[in-house]
Amino acid sequence: MDGTTPVLDVPSISYKDSLSVLSKAIRDTHHGVFILEDLPTAPFDEIQTAFDHLLDSETGKYLQKTGAMVTKSSRAFINITPENLDVAIATNDSSEASTAALTHTQSFFQNCMGDVTAKLLVALADAVGCPDTGFDEQCSLRMLDYYAREASTEPSGEPSSRHGEHRDFGTLTINFTNGPGLQAFVDGVWHDIPGTPAHSAALFFGWVTQIRSNGRVPAVLHRVVDADPVDGRVRRRNTATLFVAPTDVNTHVEPALQPAERLRYMSGLRIGQLIPKFAATYPKAWWKGNLDETKHPPVPSQEAVSMSSRL
Ligand SMILES: [Fe+2]
Repeated sequence: MDGTTPVLDVPSISYKDSLSVLSKAIRDTHHGVFILEDLPTAPFDEIQTAFDHLLDSETGKYLQKTGAMVTKSSRAFINITPENLDVAIATNDSSEASTAALTHTQSFFQNCMGDVTAKLLVALADAVGCPDTGFDEQCSLRMLDYYAREASTEPSGEPSSRHGEHRDFGTLTINFTNGPGLQAFVDGVWHDIPGTPAHSAALFFGWVTQIRSNGRVPAVLHRVVDADPVDGRVRRRNTATLFVAPTDVNTHVEPALQPAERLRYMSGLRIGQLIPKFAATYPKAWWKGNLDETKHPPVPSQEAVSMSSRL
């Protein structure tokens, strides 16, 4: 974010496009990042209100105790499941504004889940050639608060990190934001992902899709850094993120090969084998089925699932 970082060239698609248009766009992707348009508007005012009231409240403490809310020096986030948000709303002791904010945020996420992800999953299943993808379940809804803070840089001169580089775990991620900071590593260079105005979000994919597509639909390596400061301070930034992933530990994650294509990822994997090295930060409560190491021997590393030296 120092004015010299290139901006990623990201194609726009609408979830209202036909399934064949969506499927072709995904099949043709180079880096696996899209701007997704015609979406519900993310309620950032309400998300800020929720964080403002919850951070020091009894409800916030409850959410932290259950692992639904995590606070770090760089950011705070609340992982929302329909169940724990219902509990948070029911036990909300901080203010009416906070209750209204959580309720509004919950209905925003529900709209996205109902109208948007179901269609994207069908298009993705077609693009990848893996019908299982169409049945993946919503796994996680997360609202994030990157606090305002004094501007600084890393010792290397790089912009200050807010969230280190990683690939997401699951099937797909829809990331709404109200400010710059998200970057993607494409063709050996960090790029800024362009801003996403109201009614749009960044769409990208996770490990499960990368493996199922045999690498044809990549899980982009991404990170969050501080945006350019204004008067010496980095502005507050929020995101609303919807992660879609299989939740059953027995779900197969099998590369779907095209004719004459060589296998690039391990065959025979199940979700339970990937959890320790790919999704260690997901709360145990999100997984369905018995996670048994004898039935699901964990892969020893992320690199181990790849049949070549290149992930
Ligand atoms: Fe991520």
